[in-house]
Amino acid sequence: MNTYWEDELAIEIIKTCDELERLVSGLKSDGKTIGVVPTMGALHEGHLSLARAAVSQTDIAIATIFLNPTQFAPNEDLTTYPEPIEADIAKLEDVGVPYLFAPSNDEMYPPGFSTSVVPPKISKRLEGEFRPTHFAGVATVVLKLLNLTQADIGFFGQKDFQQVMVIKRMIADLNVPTEIRVCPIVRESDGLALSSRNVYLSKKEREIALSLSRTLDHVEKQIRSGLRDGFEAITEMRQMLIDAGVDSIDYAILAHPNTLETNDPIELPVVALIAAFVGKTRLIDNRVIN
Ligand code: PAJ
Repeated sequence: MNTYWEDELAIEIIKTCDELERLVSGLKSDGKTIGVVPTMGALHEGHLSLARAAVSQTDIAIATIFLNPTQFAPNEDLTTYPEPIEADIAKLEDVGVPYLFAPSNDEMYPPGFSTSVVPPKISKRLEGEFRPTHFAGVATVVLKLLNLTQADIGFFGQKDFQQVMVIKRMIADLNVPTEIRVCPIVRESDGLALSSRNVYLSKKEREIALSLSRTLDHVEKQIRSGLRDGFEAITEMRQMLIDAGVDSIDYAILAHPNTLETNDPIELPVVALIAAFVGKTRLIDNRVIN
């Protein structure tokens, strides 16, 4: 059931899998292409850039907002994650997204739910070392969302570099007929990568958080001017982050963009990836250097 204000909206909010399946089967029989933009809400310009791409590159864009509990470990921020649903709906409406799928936990994981995707090997590295259950949760929910929406194209952000690799590998391995399009990282004017978690940062922490993009700028400049010693580059990256005041570094590395394996001596293309805590907030950022 929709509330009175939901009935006034230009965007249609779908809350059940049945409703979504009915909508999608109608769209498919009309020959429409479908683009899906999976999100966990607390939408910002990064999410909206994906939504705009879906609106312009497919006939029908479907955004999804689902704060997926299975990708959070018990010690993580599921319970404090921002959920400004009304503001999110207004933003999607503004961008011209016609449908939002916003299911409840019970709708996605009804009693008896017990199947999970074993994510591909690439999920074991980096994020997987620090968040060992994370990518099983991501892969399972993304597969469900791709199945439910029957999307021709799924739009994902390069901000979550490893997530894109996991999803691409999964859809290739499991023959999911969805094309994945990756959109560039959207940043604040000073370089901070947009993230739903940035709202946790105090003014001082935000200043410290800037060190992630500045470190990526710096290492990119060094590599472009010929630095090939990976150990030296990584040592300097870590030092820059520590000097700026980050509380701990999960990783700050240079890797091959197709394998995430260590890239030393540095060969192009290379991806620099950082995950670090500023206060209690875990931030990630990355830069591909061609
Ligand atoms: P969430 O963190 O809400 O991000 C949703 C999508 O927005 C992801 O594809 C992410 O890479 C992209 N995104 C986030 N910040 C961005 C930025 N600054 N620039 C460009 N794109 C950005 O990622 C997830 O949710 C979840 O894991 C999900 C895939 C929805 C599965 O639950």
